[in-house]
Amino acid sequence: MSEPKRLAGEKACEYVKDGMVLGLGTGSTVYYTLKKIAGQGLDVIGVCTSVDTENKCKELGIKTSTIDEHDPELAIDGADEIDANRHLIKGGGGALTREKIVDYRAKEFIVVAEERKLVQQLGGTFFLPVEVIQFAWKRTQRELKERFGFERVEKRDFTTDNGNYILDCHGKIGGAVEWEKEINSIPGVVENGLFTRDVKKIIVGSGTGVKEI
Ligand code: A5P
Repeated sequence: MSEPKRLAGEKACEYVKDGMVLGLGTGSTVYYTLKKIAGQGLDVIGVCTSVDTENKCKELGIKTSTIDEHDPELAIDGADEIDANRHLIKGGGGALTREKIVDYRAKEFIVVAEERKLVQQLGGTFFLPVEVIQFAWKRTQRELKERFGFERVEKRDFTTDNGNYILDCHGKIGGAVEWEKEINSIPGVVENGLFTRDVKKIIVGSGTGVKEI
């Protein structure tokens, strides 16, 4: 159990109201949000970003729908790195494609994270996950390395909810806004873990409390 994650995850519930359609992220921090929503008996409809989150909602008795039926009013999701421009790296849990679809469709977006996720430069402490189709994944891996100068690009031993692979790209991110688009222009890439949409609040938990930025 992580106290900073709990503080951040639970605080996000202050933005949740009965009757809301909520984008529900993936990961251990958002799990605290889900538990709090259930604990408070909030009547929401969750649009989940992974099978894992769907299963957790089922266990906790949170109603769910799909992004085909509902655009969320608000999405709440975790992050792996957050820079001063409020740009993110996500996808540590391999859910980045569904996360991007749901988080980008939401009217507003709130990020919940422990303080150590705040970084000077994206790619400095974490890698960038990129979801790719299985066909020609080694070709895609080579192109990612050559075009963006990543030190190494490693295939994770994992298949996503969408039946694809994840390539973890190690190295600093040159420009999040540009790279988010350019990486997706490589044939074979499904989606990458750079998130540059506007963020309403970043809720940060630490050993000494919780703050919003
Ligand atoms: C899932 O693919 C990720 O984007 C998570 O949202 C991210 O890794 C944050 O996870 P934690 O809340 O478990 O740190």
